[in-house]
Amino acid sequence: MNWLSPNTITGDAATAGRYFRRERINEEFWREIKKGNHILFVAPRRVGKTSIMMDLAENCTDQYVCIYQNIEGVTSRSEFYQRLFTLVIQCLNRSRVQSVKSYLQSCFKKYAIEEITTSGLKLKTSELNYELELQNLILSLEETKVHTILFLDEFAEVISRMSKSDQKEDAIAILHTLREIRSYKKFKNFSIVYAGSVGLEFVIRNIDRPKLINDLHPIQTDALTNHETRQFIQQLTKDATISLSEPAIAYLIKVVEHTLPYYIQLMLEEIDHLARQQNKPEISTSDIDNAFENVLKKNKNFEDWLERLKDYQSVNFKFVNEILKHAAHREQITIREIYDIACHDSYKRQDDYMDFIDQLTNDGYLIESPRHVYKFISPFLKRFWLRKYPVYYEQFNLSTTSLLSIG
Ligand SMILES: Nc1ncnc2c1ncn2[C@@H]1O[C@H](COP(=O)(O)OP(=O)(O)O)[C@@H](O)[C@H]1O
Ligand SMILES: [Mg+2]
Repeated sequence: MNWLSPNTITGDAATAGRYFRRERINEEFWREIKKGNHILFVAPRRVGKTSIMMDLAENCTDQYVCIYQNIEGVTSRSEFYQRLFTLVIQCLNRSRVQSVKSYLQSCFKKYAIEEITTSGLKLKTSELNYELELQNLILSLEETKVHTILFLDEFAEVISRMSKSDQKEDAIAILHTLREIRSYKKFKNFSIVYAGSVGLEFVIRNIDRPKLINDLHPIQTDALTNHETRQFIQQLTKDATISLSEPAIAYLIKVVEHTLPYYIQLMLEEIDHLARQQNKPEISTSDIDNAFENVLKKNKNFEDWLERLKDYQSVNFKFVNEILKHAAHREQITIREIYDIACHDSYKRQDDYMDFIDQLTNDGYLIESPRHVYKFISPFLKRFWLRKYPVYYEQFNLSTTSLLSIG
């Protein structure tokens, strides 16, 4: 038999025929852009940020010009402004609208641009003062009569890295400039979409400037609904040899529970692999169980979730990880148990422990259910934590009597 595998992808961003679009995310995005808001996509790696941004940038209507770029390599303040300046020009250069073309002609003259390539701008003169010229450029964008949108992927990583090295002041300066650009009141034809996998709010709080991003509109990239999961599986398997009956799909949804597109892709790849070995296209519930275990065995699928916590929680990682270990081994953790850990001499977080819990729930690790009880949102993550930390001693004398009145 000529075996056809599902149309999955588990490495790079999903694009074109491999991309599964969620209209409500696109709708929310364009609604907020029209209101003049700037957008923030901050979520763990592999939840689909890059795929969503590439799709939005690729499929905008004529009144917009969009460009997507991963700016991870940017290491300094001056490089950042140069990159942004270049991006605005490259972005406009993609438009076929006449008013944009004439505007670009004037830029060519003004900045003595010889050539625009995908790698950058060739200028006749020596370097520009990019910080200053970027602001001028953005202020004059109104002449283009279109709305320019820059999608800056891995922005959070750039700021995080700078704020940890001796470039903390530069990171703050960049955030200040961007905030200033957003505050140009008369000007609504320019937006930036910021993305990244590290918890940007935490990074910014650690450099003591929470106000610098609190005007951004965050868009959640959460799990698929059951209906979307069914459509997604249908899209992936429509030309494939394997076939999943309705009960098998229902079982798969139950097993994965937190249905991120990535988890569905991993499961289908593994299911296909097992089915092919046995030359058996009909998928049973035990195939699904086996696939789940096999996906879990490949640590690299989930390692990021741990690494990013180490990265941005830095000194507080041990505290946060203690909570997660408890939640993995005991199935759940109550607010009182969290409080007891927070009070311990090794952590002393009794003044702000709820901030960490909020971060863990916003970031897709834990979910509160019922009130004041926290659990892993994803069985994959919970099992991964158990694999990583198979031994768990309660080092804390968790109180048996109620210390708090929980209302
Ligand atoms: N909308 C989607 N359609 C199909 N697959 C997706 C989608 N979103 C995420 N994925 C899956 O997740 C993986 C990571 O997606 P990506 O966009 O690179 O995430 P991120 O940028 O958040 O790290 C992809 O390789 C794919 O397996
Ligand atoms: Mg990405």
